Amino acid sequence: MSFNTIEHNRTRQNFDGVSSIWLFGYGSLIYKVDFPFLEKRPASIRDWERRFWQGSHDHRGTPGAPGRVVTLIESPGARCKGMAYRVSPKVFEHLDVREKNGYLRFATTMTFDDGSHGEGLVYIATEDNDAFLGHAPDADIARQIAGATGPSGANSEYLLRLADSLRKLGAECPHTFAIEDHLRSATENPSR
Ligand code: BEZ
Repeated sequence: MSFNTIEHNRTRQNFDGVSSIWLFGYGSLIYKVDFPFLEKRPASIRDWERRFWQGSHDHRGTPGAPGRVVTLIESPGARCKGMAYRVSPKVFEHLDVREKNGYLRFATTMTFDDGSHGEGLVYIATEDNDAFLGHAPDADIARQIAGATGPSGANSEYLLRLADSLRKLGAECPHTFAIEDHLRSATENPSR
């Protein structure tokens, strides 16, 4: 199942005359930086929460056994910590392909750790995309992640690398850390 967003994203923002733009990363963009950037700063965005609610049929799973990756869910008052990169608009040509399974670029305001603000873009997979899976209990999400592997590798590696990166950033993300705990205890006690 796939919802290819490449063409849709190309029409969403006009980069004419723009030499650089901030990109907010909250998932694999924190640790998989396979694009050039001009500057990198820890940052957060308000009123959004990270959730493992997006299916991955193309990177961390397959159509028969989709994995789960993160998207953002609106949550008034919440704060999602991540990493901001100042990039050339050309970088989106690469990222639109990398994140083509349901993610659209949205404008957002981000707050850097020194309290200053920047305007930029963030990729979000909204609930109307075909690959959206939505809420499930943490233990079920961990089980699904444990059983999924795709062309980009094991879904468990994605979860563990993201959790490690969030700890290094000092980010509070009870959702990610709870799923990580379930995955680790299932791996350490396989009969449970
Ligand atoms: C991110 O890390 O910000 C990201 C997550 C999913 C798709 C695209 C970007």
